[in-house]
Amino acid sequence: MTSIEQHDPTKQAPILQSCVAASIDLALSFKHLHWNIRGPKFQSIHEFLDIVIDQARSGTDELAERLVTIGMPAEGQRHKLQESPVPQIESGFMRDDIVLERAVAILDETVKVLRDAQSKLADIDPVSEDLVIGMLAGLEKSLWMLRSHLVPTDG
Ligand SMILES: [Fe+2]
Repeated sequence: MTSIEQHDPTKQAPILQSCVAASIDLALSFKHLHWNIRGPKFQSIHEFLDIVIDQARSGTDELAERLVTIGMPAEGQRHKLQESPVPQIESGFMRDDIVLERAVAILDETVKVLRDAQSKLADIDPVSEDLVIGMLAGLEKSLWMLRSHLVPTDG
């Protein structure tokens, strides 16, 4: 048994930082969709996007503070974040059905980043893994809810 000070944090740090970058991207992209959505489903999607943004922001905070806890700096400046796999979206106003498709694609990619991180952290740092699992539980539930908007009720 070793204390946290005796662990080498350099293995899990880039994995955690990739999650921080992806979840920052998720929150920024969802705000963009939240502002620019137009159409009959405006109200429900506009409000739901903010719920996911809150999930992303609190998860980002947990992961960034875990980085600092293990003795590594957390990078949170947008222009210094590494390329994120979260898909880019178009500028300007968007129809609600397009917003839903973009939101599902963005959230799906973010979940993949976190899933990949979770499997890598499992053998290195179960405490960091546990934070990622907690974040995944909320985001995967939100992904189900977003996808449910797209699937016909008889499908
Ligand atoms: Fe708002």
